Amino acid sequence: MHPRSWLFVPADSEKKIAKALDSDADAIIFDLEDSVAPANKAIARDVLKGLTKRSEGPQWWIRINPVGSHFHKDDLHLIGVAEIYGIVLPKAEGGADVTQLAHRTGNIPIHAIVTETAASLFGLLSYRDPKSPLAAMSWGAEDLSAALGASSKYDATGELSFTYKLARSLCLAGAVAAGVQPVDGVFADFKDEAGLRAEAEAARREGFTGKLAIHPAQVSVINAAFTPSDEEVRHAEEIVAAFEAQPNAGVLSVGGKMVDRPHLVQAQRVLERSR
Ligand code: COA
Ligand code: MG
Repeated sequence: MHPRSWLFVPADSEKKIAKALDSDADAIIFDLEDSVAPANKAIARDVLKGLTKRSEGPQWWIRINPVGSHFHKDDLHLIGVAEIYGIVLPKAEGGADVTQLAHRTGNIPIHAIVTETAASLFGLLSYRDPKSPLAAMSWGAEDLSAALGASSKYDATGELSFTYKLARSLCLAGAVAAGVQPVDGVFADFKDEAGLRAEAEAARREGFTGKLAIHPAQVSVINAAFTPSDEEVRHAEEIVAAFEAQPNAGVLSVGGKMVDRPHLVQAQRVLERSR
């Protein structure tokens, strides 16, 4: 099942790692990239080598440094040494980056962050490769705004500017086109719980099935936002039951509303997510 919450933790902080492992995150991303200073990259790798995973619990991912970075190769040496489920690749610019990484890593699952450079926005349809170990795609606004020379990712009203909304939508459609999990980006203001909830619920309504987190306090809000409510499950069960009762019907009335095939697909998805 797709992780709802993907919690980042700087891999050079044993204290934060202990907290992350204690959280209810569905996936933990041990970060070797932006949250770890160059002088600490080697220490962070050693910390990861020393961790032992329990058989149950969250998936363990590592975010390596990007292709072309000075640290990328040494990060790859962790594969087969540290207990990791998959790799998060930042600053990906297209499917070719994923294919190249897959060749180097023996096809372990990859989660690509796909909107962090200017060029990346033009590559979002290139991730469709049925042989690829790509499992998820997420988007990032912080690096993109730095790359574009923006002074802020927000417009004057405090909403995300058009460019970042575009990046977000392209990530969603690109991930669905590639048949992988669409994951919404981080909400950096970790003290604003209501803001996080609103953003996560909006992402879920649009089709994202999970969200990146940067603080343990964000995990329960995200898990809740991506878990269908009892009400939604009941409604979905009604739709599925109605079509089961009349398998040859194309369109039906459920609760006084028209439902046809797209509604059935949505209902089946809700039931799948609720399991
Ligand atoms: N994972 C695990 N534990 C975390 C955590 C995280 N992502 N973020 C904070 N904590 C811990 C703190 O260490 C602190 O522990 P303590 O009570 O034992 O001191 C506790 O949770 C409360 O943290 P708080 O004081 O609210 O925040 P902070 O000022 O210590 O940290 C950040 C704020 C942003 C530096 C921190 O949340 C962080 O490092 N986030 C991850 C950043 C990251 O990985 N970025 C890369 C992806 S964009
Ligand atoms: Mg970054």
